[in-house]
Amino acid sequence: MRILFLGDIVGPPGCEAIRKNLQNQIEINKINFVVVNGENSADQGVGITEKISKDFFNCGVDVITTGNHVWDQKETIDYINNEKRLLRPYNLINPSPGKGFEIFNSKNGYKVAVLNLMGNIFMKKCDDVFNAAKDFISKNKLKKDFDFLIVDFHGEITSEKMAIGHFFDGKASLVVGTHTHVPTNDARILNFGTAYQTDAGMCGDYNSVIGMNKENSLNKFFKKDSKKHFPSNGEASLSGVIIDCDIETGLAKNIKTFIYGGDLANTH
Ligand SMILES: [Fe+2]
Repeated sequence: MRILFLGDIVGPPGCEAIRKNLQNQIEINKINFVVVNGENSADQGVGITEKISKDFFNCGVDVITTGNHVWDQKETIDYINNEKRLLRPYNLINPSPGKGFEIFNSKNGYKVAVLNLMGNIFMKKCDDVFNAAKDFISKNKLKKDFDFLIVDFHGEITSEKMAIGHFFDGKASLVVGTHTHVPTNDARILNFGTAYQTDAGMCGDYNSVIGMNKENSLNKFFKKDSKKHFPSNGEASLSGVIIDCDIETGLAKNIKTFIYGGDLANTH
């Protein structure tokens, strides 16, 4: 069972890279299931729309996760109730529209569960993520309730992500971080069989400041005249991980970093 996870898709260049390359990459790499984080995919680089979600599904995406920007496009508040393949963080403060966990049927006949968590440190206020994870795992078990479990941890700091990785070790197929938009060089299998990478990186233009126009971002840091942040419009790189899972255990056999196209691939 081979699963592709792609990090935060940023703005029109990120969407274009998905439209142009994803179906080919699914075929070339023999991917069975695709999860992407779509929370920066709207034109402004924050939030997601119904149209963009449908585009992603048409390109072969099975599930879209999100994070702190999930409600930045107001239409998502309604749309998420009608589209179970679009998740919001599981530990948002209740009540919140949509769901943060769902079990999906893969095209090759397996039950793939996806859990979307959000960190607490330097993030919008949400319920304690470690308590939420503990509560979740007391009710949901790998190979009993589903064949594979993918955890997207949307968070700012590496220690929180690594701690969650170890918490889920042996209980999830993959724990991967999102939100920082920079891929980390630590893809590995943890002691008890969970594939892990601290951050998947973004699917966006890397000749930028985390996907946003670099001149405008620098002006902001120098406190000069600047516009609202807007996405950088160069060719996007796709960035994420590919894992192979054992069908008997649901755990990972290997993980490799996946980087395709754009500035990151060309200068890597
Ligand atoms: Fe984010």
